[in-house]
Amino acid sequence: MKITLSAIKADVGSVGGHNRPSKRLTQAIIDHVENEGKKKGLLIDYKVFTTGDDNFILMSHTRGVDNPDIHKLAWDSFVQGTAIAKEQGLYGAGQDLLKDAFSGNVRGMGPSSAEIEFEERPSEPFILFMCDKTDPGVFNLPLFRGFADPFHNAGLLLAPEMQVGFEFTIMDVNYTEADKVIKLNVPAEAYDLAVLLRDPEHYVIESIKANSTGDQACSVSTSRLHNIAGKYTGKDDPVAIVRSQKQFPSTGEILSPLAAAHYVVGDNRGSHNVALMPCKLGSIISYFDGPAIITAAGICIHNGVMTEEVDLFDQPFWDFVRNKAAEKTFAIREQGYFGNAMAPMEELEYTGVMESLKRLDKKFVLRKK
Ligand code: F6R
Ligand code: MG
Ligand code: MG
Repeated sequence: MKITLSAIKADVGSVGGHNRPSKRLTQAIIDHVENEGKKKGLLIDYKVFTTGDDNFILMSHTRGVDNPDIHKLAWDSFVQGTAIAKEQGLYGAGQDLLKDAFSGNVRGMGPSSAEIEFEERPSEPFILFMCDKTDPGVFNLPLFRGFADPFHNAGLLLAPEMQVGFEFTIMDVNYTEADKVIKLNVPAEAYDLAVLLRDPEHYVIESIKANSTGDQACSVSTSRLHNIAGKYTGKDDPVAIVRSQKQFPSTGEILSPLAAAHYVVGDNRGSHNVALMPCKLGSIISYFDGPAIITAAGICIHNGVMTEEVDLFDQPFWDFVRNKAAEKTFAIREQGYFGNAMAPMEELEYTGVMESLKRLDKKFVLRKK
């Protein structure tokens, strides 16, 4: 059976700062998806999660990717959530709804989406990754290591289905006129792939396909809010769907690169480098409006119906990683805004530094020799 999984997310307001949507807000989203999506037969199934200040709607259906009715359902749910956010005086009410009226697809309108259409395998396990206070390039390192680096994932050597490698589709997210993409095949083009992926604010993994079967393994939301709005409106806080097992890396092989707690751009005012912390589902944002967090739900889907989710970072091993992430974040925070602690100039989400530089530049004098 051909099924589409659509994950669409937005921040439309939260409690106590940019911390977590209120329960009423998230319930308003659930009610809309239930009444207008599931009860009306548009969806087979759905789940709603929060991570930090973002709401993530995961939907299963048979309408394919980029379907206007599915995207409108998500958009309208966020509009309902915004109404509650305004009623409760939540912070940042409606912040990711950048356009007044919906027009066909959430892309370019503020919310982000990751979608895959596939023929269901007899058992179809997948992971929904949800992030807050960071951007889509956050997935470059773990997906490269999981799908292309045998030193990390010995399954690439051990499993014949994976020995033939994968095809990565990479997007140049700084090009805003159209979708600018390149396809690279590993292992043959692994070095070219690494050249691009090492710059996660510019080149972002959009999807990966298994060479063995042609099946799509994953889909990552690639939209960048500051490219859409032309100014700071919040961080992109991406979502990804990754299918696992058999012709794909195992769930553990996909999770394990996240034990590196790698440094990513985001955190406070979207403008710092901090270590990505793997957290439990529904975790909030706290220290320094951060840290950048990732949560993971493990799910099986059959005839479009989803099982309950397993909270993949709710296991003692990840407590150790969380401590390590906190230590790595403290280590870089010790130098405040100096040098690498702050994001590169073009990533600074607030305009203050750039405006000060322009003002100060006029005051510089050229000293005569
Ligand atoms: C980062 C984030 C926060 C805000 C900060 C200031 O993505 O959401 O760090 O940037 O709390 O928020 P405003 O500008 O809304 O006062
Ligand atoms: Mg926010
Ligand atoms: Mg957020």
